[in-house]
Amino acid sequence: MSELTRYSKAPFSGYHRDKSPPTIDPELTRVGPGQPCGELFRRYWIPIALSKEVSSERATKVRVLGEELVLFRDHSGRLGLLDLHCAHRGTSLEFGRIRERGISCCYHGWHFDIDGSVIEAPTHSAESRVRERVFQGAYPAQEYGGMVFAYMGPPEKKPDFPIYDLYEKPGVTHKAHKFHWPCNWLQIRENGLDPLHVKYLHAEAGQRFPSTMEVLPTMAFEESPLGLFYITTRRMGEMIYLRQNEIFLPHADWVNGLEDAKGETVFDRRGGGTDFVVPIDDGNSLFFMMLDAYSLDRTTGMNGVWDRDFSWPIQQGLNYSIPSSGQNGDRPYEERQRSAGDWDAATTQGAIHSHQDENLGWSDAGVSIFRRRIREEIRKVKTGQDPIGLHYGLNGKHIRTRGHNTVLRVPKGRNEAEEQYLLTAFYSEFLKEVVEGDLQQDTPVADRLRIGHEVVRRIVAAL
Ligand code: FES
Ligand SMILES: [Fe+2]
Repeated sequence: MSELTRYSKAPFSGYHRDKSPPTIDPELTRVGPGQPCGELFRRYWIPIALSKEVSSERATKVRVLGEELVLFRDHSGRLGLLDLHCAHRGTSLEFGRIRERGISCCYHGWHFDIDGSVIEAPTHSAESRVRERVFQGAYPAQEYGGMVFAYMGPPEKKPDFPIYDLYEKPGVTHKAHKFHWPCNWLQIRENGLDPLHVKYLHAEAGQRFPSTMEVLPTMAFEESPLGLFYITTRRMGEMIYLRQNEIFLPHADWVNGLEDAKGETVFDRRGGGTDFVVPIDDGNSLFFMMLDAYSLDRTTGMNGVWDRDFSWPIQQGLNYSIPSSGQNGDRPYEERQRSAGDWDAATTQGAIHSHQDENLGWSDAGVSIFRRRIREEIRKVKTGQDPIGLHYGLNGKHIRTRGHNTVLRVPKGRNEAEEQYLLTAFYSEFLKEVVEGDLQQDTPVADRLRIGHEVVRRIVAAL
């Protein structure tokens, strides 16, 4: 049987294909307690539910990182996140009674505070020390932007809850969504590191994307202080359009709104949102989107698509971007076949996709880099180091991020080599401006444009 290969070189060779189950990569895909990737996730604040799913009337059962938990809001307004099964004899606390402080079990009335301490244990005598001895498993939880986040790692290593500057842009509120994707978390996150799919899966399938997305971009992936930058540059007539997303390792991604590249704009962060991938278990994940919602203010003077044409991305009068179509499996099968979305692409790779069967090419650079970076962070945790992107002692300070859309007029190169130089220099010069320079969220619009025009002069002069 040694002639069997996973991919044969001969035509009509299905028979000779090795059909034994491919191996999966346990380091990157296993997320339960004690598993390498599970331990990495347990060092971060991760979203586990939408705020609207949490009630003070009934507890909500949640499954995350392979653990079964119960989430509720007690009558004093605090969030509780406890092990699902009662410390007395294991009944599920989803049937519990929510109290002023914490929750009590439906079966024999054990009453737990939100930190897991036992307030009452009616099954035991008043002298019993059970209340000091036993704690129900509990995790800290916090709300932000319409979502509930949990920290499921070692208490002594709990980082500050991260509030990124782009969460708190002027005039912006958030709209949160949650979708179930029946596949491993890695497949979903890799989808956001794959610029080529935007052209084929989205733009060419007639989804409502601007024509900029039909252009094959120059792509780059660079280190960011929080993880990775996903960078694409596109020539659109006399303009160059730079789109820089930022991946906050391991699981979050700031995704910019889509520009039509019809007007000049620099460091424009409107129209996007942050998405988060959270493993339910090895073969199921939650995909959260925290989309920016705007007031219809056209006075910013940025001249981006958001100033000129709010009508394109706004669906059904909702003032937010990123079409959600294709982000879940609720659409009719035939419609999904005609116009597949991210959900269809990622979930049909299999519950846990095997990398053994892949044939990676140049456009998969982001996927390879992401896997390598995740592996590095997993190994840091394994050896007792802190992984990237944890913050302590923030004292309310926002974390600086660097994702943006920039569109500027740049004369075309006289030949292919010059054009390639311009596209590459454009992004790398802006990368310097946003990492080491002054270009950031609170830079006034006039200064942004001035800095932008200086960058263009510099790169054109070097031709
Ligand atoms: S099983 Fe919960 S109180 Fe007995
Ligand atoms: Fe996509």
